[in-house]
Formats: sequence, C-alpha cells, structure tokens
Amino acid sequence: MAESTPHAWRAADEYLSDLLVGHDPALEAALAAQRKAGMPDIEVAPVAGKLLNLLVRMSGARRVLEIGTLGGYSTIWMARAVGEQGRVVTIEAEQDNADIARASIDAAGVGDRVEIRVGRGEDVLPTLVGGFDLVFIDADKESNTLYLDWAARLGHPGTVIVLDNVGRDGEIVNDATDDTKVIGTRDGLRMLGEDPRFDATALQTVGVKGWDGVALALVV
Ligand code: DHB
Ligand code: MG
Repeated sequence: MAESTPHAWRAADEYLSDLLVGHDPALEAALAAQRKAGMPDIEVAPVAGKLLNLLVRMSGARRVLEIGTLGGYSTIWMARAVGEQGRVVTIEAEQDNADIARASIDAAGVGDRVEIRVGRGEDVLPTLVGGFDLVFIDADKESNTLYLDWAARLGHPGTVIVLDNVGRDGEIVNDATDDTKVIGTRDGLRMLGEDPRFDATALQTVGVKGWDGVALALVV
C-alpha cells in the first residue's frame, strides 16, 4: 500500500484527472493567465472543477451564482454546464482579477453566459435578483455565514449550495484556533448543521490541493 503523503495524494489525483478530466486547452490557458497575473494557485482542482460541472448538469441548474471568481477557472467549468440559455453570475472583489477572468471566460467561448460583478460580496449580493439554482461559495472564508445566508435568500427550495475549503488541513477540529479562515470555515459548517434552511454534508479531499474538503447543501 502506498504511504499516505501529500506526494502520493497528488500522484493519485493526477491519475484520476488524466483518466476522467483530460487535457483542456481553454482551462489550461485560464490557469496560465491567472498565474502570469500573480494570482495564487487556489482555484479548485481539475477533478473538483469537473464535479462542479457535473453537479450543475445533474441538478439541471440554469442560473448559477459564484462567489469568488479569481481567474475564472471554476466559472468556465460551470458556464459550460448551464447550456446556451443558462447564466452564471460571478462576484469578484478585485477589478484586476475580474479583467483576467473576463478575458479567459471569453476565450473559452462562454462569455455570453457569464456576468462578472465586481465588488465585495457583502455589497454586491443585496443588489442581485434571486432565483439561483446552484450557488458556489469560494471566497473569503471569514464571510462564509454571510454568503450562506445570501445563498438561501437568493435561492429556492431545491437550490444546491457548494461550499469550498471546509477541510483546511484538518484544522477545523481546532476549537482554540486564532486563524480567521478556520474560524470562518467552522462557523459556516455550524450554520449548515443548525440552520433549518439547509440540509448538508461535507467530504474531505486530498489531492493536488493538499488536504481540504467540500460541503454540499440543499436549500430545503
Ligand atoms: C484559500 C482559499 C481557497 O478558496 C482555496 O481553495 C484554498 C485556499 C485560502 O484563502 O487560503
Ligand atoms: Mg477554494
């Protein structure tokens, strides 16, 4: 049996990506543009991008909201899944990031389906018209509870919510942490467990992005 190390997690994840995701020039170009612009490599893993794409298609979502565009990698995955009549609204706090994402999304051929709203989530979310079928939350972890509240308000019974980065190297069990990202992650998970608007679970992940996790919730 292989020893469970970050190196082995990466090798197994790359094996799965090679088999199930494959080579994708538009997505690879988006990552290259993101890296060239100095953005961090914190987009979702290829297998997770494919998961987002499949969740949109499995749920039949036509209106998707993303909080945290970064370079547009996950945006492209979901925009491909909503179909020609579908729409993705994606919120990005940094104008420079939004400009890079806009170019990559357009180059991927899905620009007409994607609206990028530049601003902080707390400012942009109250201006949106609801009716979203799937919400992907992948922004500042300190605001997770605010984003979950808006996801419920802008969704409807049956809306799928995906919350990224709920594993955080296992730090989620550290109730004495002073890491604000971990505190925000724990607060978001507690809300998913306690708030009657949600029914949720979470899975830990290992792979090219290390040890982390993703929560899946349904607005009930
Ligand atoms: C961080 C944020 C992310 O969305 C991610 O996928 C990984 C790390 C971060 O802010 O540390
Ligand atoms: Mg993330």
